Parts: sequence; structure tokens; C-alpha cells
Amino acid sequence: MAEDPVDLDRPAYRHGCREAADWLKRELAELGFEAALRETPGHPVVLAKHAKPTGPHMLFYGHYDVQPVDPLEKWETPPFEPKIATTKEGKKIILGRGSSDDKGQVLTFVEACRAWKSATGELPVGVTLMIEGEEECGSVNLGGFLDEAKDELKADAALVCDTTMWAQGRPAITSALRGLIYEQITIKAANRDLHSGMYGGAARNPLHVLSKIVADLHDADGRVTLAGFYDGVHETPEDVREQWRGLGLDAEAFLKPVGLSEPAGERDRMIIEQIQSRPTCDVNGMWGGYTGAGAKTVIAAEAHAKISFRLVGDQDPAAIRQAFRAFVRERLPSDCAVEFDGHKGSRAIQVPIDSPALAKTRAALEAEWGVAPVTIGMGGSIPVVGDFKRTLGLDTLMVGFALDDDRIHSPNEKYDLESFRKGTRSWIRILGALAG
Ligand code: BES
Ligand code: MN
Ligand code: MN
Repeated sequence: MAEDPVDLDRPAYRHGCREAADWLKRELAELGFEAALRETPGHPVVLAKHAKPTGPHMLFYGHYDVQPVDPLEKWETPPFEPKIATTKEGKKIILGRGSSDDKGQVLTFVEACRAWKSATGELPVGVTLMIEGEEECGSVNLGGFLDEAKDELKADAALVCDTTMWAQGRPAITSALRGLIYEQITIKAANRDLHSGMYGGAARNPLHVLSKIVADLHDADGRVTLAGFYDGVHETPEDVREQWRGLGLDAEAFLKPVGLSEPAGERDRMIIEQIQSRPTCDVNGMWGGYTGAGAKTVIAAEAHAKISFRLVGDQDPAAIRQAFRAFVRERLPSDCAVEFDGHKGSRAIQVPIDSPALAKTRAALEAEWGVAPVTIGMGGSIPVVGDFKRTLGLDTLMVGFALDDDRIHSPNEKYDLESFRKGTRSWIRILGALAG
């Protein structure tokens, strides 16, 4: 396990992260929040409170950290110099890492608070903002912070703005998220890189060993082959599947904008199941040997991969990590050794969809967008949402205004100014509705 996530996850950005946290703290203090940076073993948490003597109190969560910008050369504008641009279709967007995930989304809520303050001098409900700096590395220190700050975090519900809309113009309330486990694996063979003419034919090649193991992780039907992998995965009831069919998410329409045409996941599953209600396994990176320009005839001493699993239902992250490690060890031929480095583990999350707060939110979103929101699960993960329930006893309301084409985690991330404006207006309405 990573001992110091700050140092392991890009130490060069430590200062930039703190600057972002500091900026947000000052902004919230100016808005009348009692705001502070709270230290953790990693990046600080921005905690800001605006209490009210009576009425409900909301805990708003988001994150100011972002994903690595690599590959930098694919960016058309510098990732950390946000820029407003107009697309070919005439849409105004803001470009930059975090513009959508999650800085822009956090600011929709901040601006909603600003609007309430400037129009009425107050907020309609009590609000605590908790904006963390480690979501993208698994919120490793936030669980501890929740324990520690439990009393300060008392609220009636948690709000999160870190998810997507159903489609442009059609808002969504997220009712479920997939969980995640992430493993880095190193396979070692010879004690040094070898000349592939001298040793080729005789020497074990760890890149071949790794490739074979990776290939074995899925069967011909796209199912994951780890023992017990589907334990705790529940079939979606037919009436819900029927509703999903009614939403008409078309595989081709979904894949076309990213240059793909055919779903490559589990056979005989609707695309909406593949990306949301079914568990998956993906290689996120794989390397070893010579990868520079030209040709170098070498048999590498080591091969590496980063592999993650998205979890659903009651799948147990610890059990799957174990099953994965056993799967690799069973396939390890002679003269090979393996090392594992485990990061990130979170269970899938399901939130109640029949609460009064959800009904109010639904009405507020419909009033703003002129169309009823879709209530649906999403494929991504937000590790702390499970802890809100476990540690603070809070249900979470997830409403986000990102779009599938925002390129989150990819080069040229953007946020539509329309998302920003109508997202802000949505939170203004939601806060008002929650007060009543
Ligand atoms: N905001 C995303 C999660 C998300 C994206 C939810 C789209 C719903 C729709 C979040 O910042 C994220 O990227 N989470 C990581 C988890 C983490 C442990 C690295 C993820 O899902 O990969
Ligand atoms: Mn996010
Ligand atoms: Mn993210």
C-alpha cells in the first residue's frame, strides 16, 4: 500500500494543490463562510461552514484535485491555463484540467451560494462545504478525516456535484456508483535486460508472461475469469431493465463520438448495463522493455501493468484483490517473481431513491431544465460516498452537470458555460427547495 500518497502521486504538484485549496478557502471566507484548510497526511481538506439557527443543514462535497494531464502533447491549450473558447457548433466552453472534474462543478455550487447571499443576504439552508484534494487517488485520508471531524460535519444530507447529466439538456440524479480496486503488478524474470539475439529462444520474457495473464482475465464472452468475481453481483430486475430500454441509449450513438462502433464488453448485455450495472476489468497502463524511438533488441528483465476492476452490488473489494493476486500467482511460470502494489479500494454505492429530499431535487431540476431528470446509476466511482453513510449516517444526493463529451481524465478537458450557468441555477433552486 502507498505509504505517502502525496509523494507517490506526483510530488511536483503538491504546491499547486495547496494553492488551489487556499484560493477556495479565501473565496468561501469572502462569501461569509467560516473557512479553514484542514491538514491530513496528504493534501489538505477545505472545510467551510455557514450555519443557520434552524432548518436543515447540508454537507456539500467535491474535490479540487485532478487527474494527471498526460499525454501533455495532445493538449491544444496548456492544461493549467484555463481558457474560454467557442466550439465549431458555437458553444462557449472553458478548457483546462479540472474544468469539469471537478473544479467547474464545485464552482456551480459556490456560485449558487453567492447568488443566494447577494439576493437575500443569507443562505436558505445551513451549508458545510468539504472539498478534498485526494479524490483522484482514492480519498486515502478522507475516511480518517471524517472520523476525526464527525461532530463538525453533522448534517441532514450530503450533496455531491461530481457526476454527469444524462444528455445535453437532460439532467440526471445519480442513484448508484460503481466501486473500484486498483492493482499495479510487476513481473520479474532475468536479473538484467538481455540481448534478444544471444538469449532469445532460451530466456523467459516477462512481457510475454504479463500479456498472457492479461489476456486470460476475460473469456470469449467478455466475462471476467477471476474465481468468485461475480459473487455479490445482482441481476437487475426486469422492470428496471425495461425502464432502461425506454431511455433508448444506443450503443452506436454512445461510441461514435469517441471513434468506436461496437461494444466490446460482456456479450448479450445492453450498453447501459455494460457501463453502469456490470462489473469490469481494464488494463489502464502496461509497459516494459524498450519503448523509445527506433529499435532495440532486448528481452526486458521486468514487465509492469496497472489494472483496475469496477465493482457493483455487494462485490467485496478485498476478496477480489485476493482473487486477482491468486490468479496471477497460479499463472506464473518458472524463474518469474511477481510484486503487487495495491491502491484504492471502494465498494459500489446505492443511495435511496425515495427520500423527500430527492423528490424536492427532482422538482427543482425539472423547473430549471424544463424536463424531468433521469434517476440512474453511473459507472464512475466516488469513494467517500460510502463513508458518508457508514461514518456520518448521511444519505447522499448526487447531481452533476458534466457531459459525456467533457473529456474528463482525457486531454483537452472542457466544461460548457451552459453547464456552469444552468448548474448554478439548478443548485440555487435545489437549496431553496431543500429549505421548504
Ligand atoms: N467524478 C469522477 C467520477 C464519476 C465520473 C462519476 C463520471 C460519475 C460519472 C471522479 O472524479 C473519478 O474520476 N473517480 C475515480 C475514482 C478514483 C478512486 C480514482 C474513477 O471513477 O476512476
Ligand atoms: Mn470527480
Ligand atoms: Mn475524476
